Amino acid sequence: MYELDSPDFETVLAGCAAKVGALLDRLLDERVRDGEIARPAGLLAAMRHGVLNGGKRLRPFLVMESAALFDVDPADALTIAAALECVHCYSLIHDDLPAMDDDDLRRGQPTVHKAFDEATAILAGDALLTYAFDLLATGESRIPAAARLELVAGLARAAGIGGMAGGQALDLAAEKSQPDEAGIITLQAMKTGALIRYACEAGAIAGGAEIADRERLAEFGSAIGLAFQLADDLLDLSADAVTMGKATGKDAAAGKATLAALHGADWAKRQLFGLVEQAQALLEPYGERAFMLRAAAAFVADRRR
Ligand code: IPE
Ligand code: IPE
Ligand code: MG
Ligand code: MG
Ligand code: MG
Repeated sequence: MYELDSPDFETVLAGCAAKVGALLDRLLDERVRDGEIARPAGLLAAMRHGVLNGGKRLRPFLVMESAALFDVDPADALTIAAALECVHCYSLIHDDLPAMDDDDLRRGQPTVHKAFDEATAILAGDALLTYAFDLLATGESRIPAAARLELVAGLARAAGIGGMAGGQALDLAAEKSQPDEAGIITLQAMKTGALIRYACEAGAIAGGAEIADRERLAEFGSAIGLAFQLADDLLDLSADAVTMGKATGKDAAAGKATLAALHGADWAKRQLFGLVEQAQALLEPYGERAFMLRAAAAFVADRRR
């Protein structure tokens, strides 16, 4: 329960970031795991560069908080959170490649292909993606095997052709042929929304929640996922690279299809407000226990970085 003297959202987010960071640091150490032959040092260093370089760890936070709603053991939830963050970091490493957004700066540091080279960045992404499924499938989790399978399938669907990767393809295609509003919403729901939706649904899956609860959490995730990308597009228009830790002003330069570009910043801000209200209303059945998830919705819309 979060009472009046409960820690604020940013403190809890930072605490979650520290925990998931420490776990990822251990998971990406030099020790060769069962069934592996070796961990090539250069590739491991590139993976660590792409993962252990800050980052808000919002998706892990959403996993932890949605899992807490359904009484999942926090240690088990943390593994799911780490797996999802591996997929997210892989998506960023590949998103920054010259063939995609061609970015030099990520989380305030050189992107992986700049710090290493392109081939290593591609492979670091590949290895992080596969590692995520390793983490979900193995380990001493108390999550029942059937729920683990659903977590694996859910992450595959969220990351693959019908989710993030498909959305990235639509995003690149949209530089050439401007999609309409519905097209932009679809591509954003896929490239950014799908992993955030999964983050929120994962806790319900792991906790064996009723289907209605799963759907409610997934819908909450969809709403804040859309809000998240809307805010990202606004920040690309207005924020500076030092604050963001990545280049800004690039969407307009590339002719990227964004809702903020289509309708203007004021419209986008009003839309953000509506999405947060919609998302928060979905959590009403959970009362005070969903305090942090409601705070996350507000943060997503109002974030400065
Ligand atoms: C950036 O995601 C990529 C988008 C989906 C817009 P985040 O803003 O969550 O990036 P990090 O993990 O905090 O660096
Ligand atoms: C990236 O969207 C989404 C994924 C990595 C899947 P953007 O290209 O807008 O993200 P940033 O602005 O580079 O973080
Ligand atoms: Mg991109
Ligand atoms: Mg990008
Ligand atoms: Mg962006």
